[in-house]
Amino acid sequence: MESDVKLTKLAACAGCGAKVGAGTLAQLLEGLPARRDPDLLVGFDRSDDAAVYRVSSGLALVQTVDFFPPIDDDPYFFGQIAAVNALSDVYAMGGEPKTALNLLCVPQDLPREAVHAILRGGCEKVYEAGAVLAGGHSIFDPEPKYGLSVTGFVHPDKMLTNSGAKPGDVLFLTKPLGIGVLTTAGKAGLLSPAGLETARTLMTTLNKGARDVMVRHEVHACTDVTGFGLLGHTLEMALGSDTAVELDTKGISFLEEALELARTGILPEGLYRNRRFAQDQVDAGEVPLAVQDLLYDPQTSGGLLMAVAPEAAEALFEALKPAVPTAQRVGVVTRYTGGKRIRLK
Ligand code: CO
Ligand code: CO
Ligand code: CO
Repeated sequence: MESDVKLTKLAACAGCGAKVGAGTLAQLLEGLPARRDPDLLVGFDRSDDAAVYRVSSGLALVQTVDFFPPIDDDPYFFGQIAAVNALSDVYAMGGEPKTALNLLCVPQDLPREAVHAILRGGCEKVYEAGAVLAGGHSIFDPEPKYGLSVTGFVHPDKMLTNSGAKPGDVLFLTKPLGIGVLTTAGKAGLLSPAGLETARTLMTTLNKGARDVMVRHEVHACTDVTGFGLLGHTLEMALGSDTAVELDTKGISFLEEALELARTGILPEGLYRNRRFAQDQVDAGEVPLAVQDLLYDPQTSGGLLMAVAPEAAEALFEALKPAVPTAQRVGVVTRYTGGKRIRLK
């Protein structure tokens, strides 16, 4: 359904590109009182995807909230993308989404059918994830925003944080890079119809398939690649695990049109922010600039980045291929011996 309203025209910055940068966020959270609770397994002092709270020895709650301004002009796709992106943080912890609450901000004059289409897109993805929509909250706001608060379950011993990576682990990523460049080009009217289709397909694909394979193998750490880009999220993993990472850029799939656009300088604002945050820790070697750009590109509803025990890597990759054809082996975790945390080759 194409509506007359061009949703992205109502947004100052789109999708996960609207996220407050990692550096700024750390400053904003600094000095806030943090109450300790032994059952809060993952809290806001850790830069992880979701909070995890142990209810009993066999059950923990995974809680997350994610919402942003329109990333797509079509309200139905915007709803789907925002929901898939929010659900992803539960998958990134190895969890299973159970309940979801809508968070909706809409201008008072946004046509009713557009609002309805946003909510329908979101609710379809919640059901596809096997969760239920349990309510929500809506307010008027000149800039539309939509997303979900999601609660899921995970076994406390099976949760996957972004800080468990070990030297020797093999890194897999389940979606190609360049979504942020494509959506930025789309906003400027510079994206081909095929590029729009590719971006939509990727952003509306749940990370459920990847998560379901992941939990059957020995995976040490996981995060989803979203607003901070592959390098930002990889750096968080390396810092959290006190390891280093070697990314093999020849093994990473980049969206062809995104590479072309990056070469002509069509780059989202968030990319520069991500670069400023991570670049001091990145040894970029001889890697071409456009490729580096896509490594910093903020992904809306990106794939899962998993650190897999070396002996389990082959079997996991074989199981991933049919479930998630876009999955790639992107690098390895190494011992940190000082200097920069990430090396590109
Ligand atoms: Co996340
Ligand atoms: Co998130
Ligand atoms: Co995780």
